[in-house]
Amino acid sequence: MAIKAVRGVHDILPADAPRWQRVEAVAREVFEAYGYKEIRPPIFERTELFARGIGEVTDIVQKEMYTFEDRTGESLTLRPEATASVLRAYVEHGLHVQPKPVRLYTIGPMFRYERPQAGRYRQFHQLNLEALGEVHPALDAEVIAVLMELFGRLGLADRLTLSLNSIGDGACRPAYRENLVAYLRQNAGELCGECRARTERNPLRVLDCKQPGCQPTLEKAPSILDWLCQGCAQHFSRVRDYLDAMDLAYRVTPRLVRGFDYYVRTTFELLTGELGAQNAVAGGGRYDGLVQLLEGPPDPGIGFAVGMERVVLLLPAAPAEAVPLALLIPLGEAALVRLLSVARGVRSRGLAVELGYGARKLRNELDRANRLKVPYVVIVGDGELQKGEALIRDMGSGAQRPVPLDRLEEALMAMKSGEPR
Ligand code: HAM
Repeated sequence: MAIKAVRGVHDILPADAPRWQRVEAVAREVFEAYGYKEIRPPIFERTELFARGIGEVTDIVQKEMYTFEDRTGESLTLRPEATASVLRAYVEHGLHVQPKPVRLYTIGPMFRYERPQAGRYRQFHQLNLEALGEVHPALDAEVIAVLMELFGRLGLADRLTLSLNSIGDGACRPAYRENLVAYLRQNAGELCGECRARTERNPLRVLDCKQPGCQPTLEKAPSILDWLCQGCAQHFSRVRDYLDAMDLAYRVTPRLVRGFDYYVRTTFELLTGELGAQNAVAGGGRYDGLVQLLEGPPDPGIGFAVGMERVVLLLPAAPAEAVPLALLIPLGEAALVRLLSVARGVRSRGLAVELGYGARKLRNELDRANRLKVPYVVIVGDGELQKGEALIRDMGSGAQRPVPLDRLEEALMAMKSGEPR
């Protein structure tokens, strides 16, 4: 039996690569226009980083991490997200001495042991952006603006909804939490088993339950927005003012809670109705206190991550792949030797051509040219070699013309730029 890829992970095949490249290229362009610099943290870290950073009672840490011991017995984990790693690097390398906010982004694979389904994988990829060292609510709005700019440039903004919430902070959330737990306990009979378990373990996450039976009760649950302290309420209202000033539409969603313990105040998700249950293409929020939790300075922060697989699923199939300009067909060894240097010459100048190996019949090579869909072939056999020529054939019209061999490289370059030949 041939070995297959592991469940929940997948290959990005050449036919899909152009869409991935486009998402990545547009992201880099947008992020850099807003002053974000790339950082590339490693793919595995000490397990403790995620346990501490993401939170011991989160689903991610409790159920979803790929954790293993290396040969020294140290516990390591494949990163389930990038924020903890980026902040670890920020502290470790003293990036906090730079002018603030320090703006960082990273692109790469993440690993979570989740039940695979459409849009949910065990290895997936994120575009991840973090801004560190600034509490001003205008930064929250800026980070959201980056996200919306990205999706605008990808032509997807109209198909997405921005959900926005504030989940308070250490000053106001504990009282809300208590009130919520009291409500959930009172109504435990109306809730599913998972909700009842979460009521005791991680009550805010109960609000995220998708079970239809739980909805009526959860809709009537107390709203965090009624419990925000003055500081959080003001911060939230200013974030909204700045978003309004930039004409960025959002829907205030008091039940939006996220699966990480590090968030405070602003949280947001970008949702689509087109991918079934996996409806979030991006999520993020503010995490003041997290840098300090990782033994760094008391720098606040905010960021988001975009799920690249989900974005690629929303994009139209890529246009046909780029084809080489020509197939160079040497008929025989001597012609091959001559065309090797021509091929090398034009390739080094950025022109893609295919080269035969001189051993096949012309008919077979022309077949190959048709399958490759190249617009031209260049034929050099013994007769042409003797005359010091190559034949250029237009595959569309069938028209052929000779070109001196020592001008072939220039002729091909001119054909690339569409100059008269
Ligand atoms: P997250 O919401 O866990 O946030 O992930 C962000 C996005 O990654 C999701 O909206 C989704 O599109 C994608 N995603 C998550 N899990 C999977 C999966 N199993 N398969 C495919 N796509 C997935 C974070 O990771 C935070 N670190 C975001 C953040 C950055 N907050 C502040 N800074």
